[in-house]
Amino acid sequence: MNLVFLGPPGAGKGTIASQAKVQYDIPHISTGDLFRNHIKHETELGKQVKAILSRGDLVPDSITIAMVKERLAEDDAKKGFILDGFPRTIIQAEALEGMTTLDAVVNFKLGREEIIKRLSGRRMCKSTGRIYHLIYDPPKKEGLDDETGEPLMQRDDDKPEAIAHRLDVYLEQTEPLIAFYKEEGLLVDIDASHSPDTVMAELVSVLK
Ligand code: AP5
Repeated sequence: MNLVFLGPPGAGKGTIASQAKVQYDIPHISTGDLFRNHIKHETELGKQVKAILSRGDLVPDSITIAMVKERLAEDDAKKGFILDGFPRTIIQAEALEGMTTLDAVVNFKLGREEIIKRLSGRRMCKSTGRIYHLIYDPPKKEGLDDETGEPLMQRDDDKPEAIAHRLDVYLEQTEPLIAFYKEEGLLVDIDASHSPDTVMAELVSVLK
């Protein structure tokens, strides 16, 4: 199954993708994670995009498209994939059409107030990548990863100024993709305001 997860920042795309990748036995390809990995390992690409991610701006299309093309060419993506956070512009969506065909584009719907709550309470473990929330999904021991015991961190782009900017960028550059994929007959809406298990159950049901 070839899937795209579309939706505003903090809608829960990454959280649901971590369950869906097991359910469908396909890789979860998050462009945000790929960029953060480059930043962590201080690669040339990482140095190039670090400030862009911190501000909450989009990485230029040419860089992002090349990175996704390379990732989709890897063996594990031959059996299907969940693309999370790509495409984010019409140019990226058109480029994706030249790389593969899609079975569905899942649109995670969530209101602004809840988005801000989810993003400002999000914490993550840098090495395992596991995502927590201070209220909705706290770690067993405050501030520490359940698996490794490492201190949890807050993403730079989850600070209030960057959150507001990311929402503006989403409305301006990514929301037009909803109409784009509706027209292609690929869009399925999901109400992302419920618990992760309920959202996951809705996903399975709409993909049947
Ligand atoms: P990226 O990492 O893709 O960020 P995003 O799309 O803004 O999405 P998030 O990761 O913030 O949110 P999410 O929907 O995955 O929510 P999550 O599951 O974590 O991109 C980061 C940056 O990289 C971009 O700003 C840009 O600079 C660059 N980039 C990436 N892709 C690009 C592209 N294609 N083109 C150009 N630039 C690109 O959940 C959020 C919180 O809510 C968590 O704490 C979680 O525990 C909690 N939560 C989740 N679901 C629920 C629920 N159902 N109930 C209660 N709490 C929940």
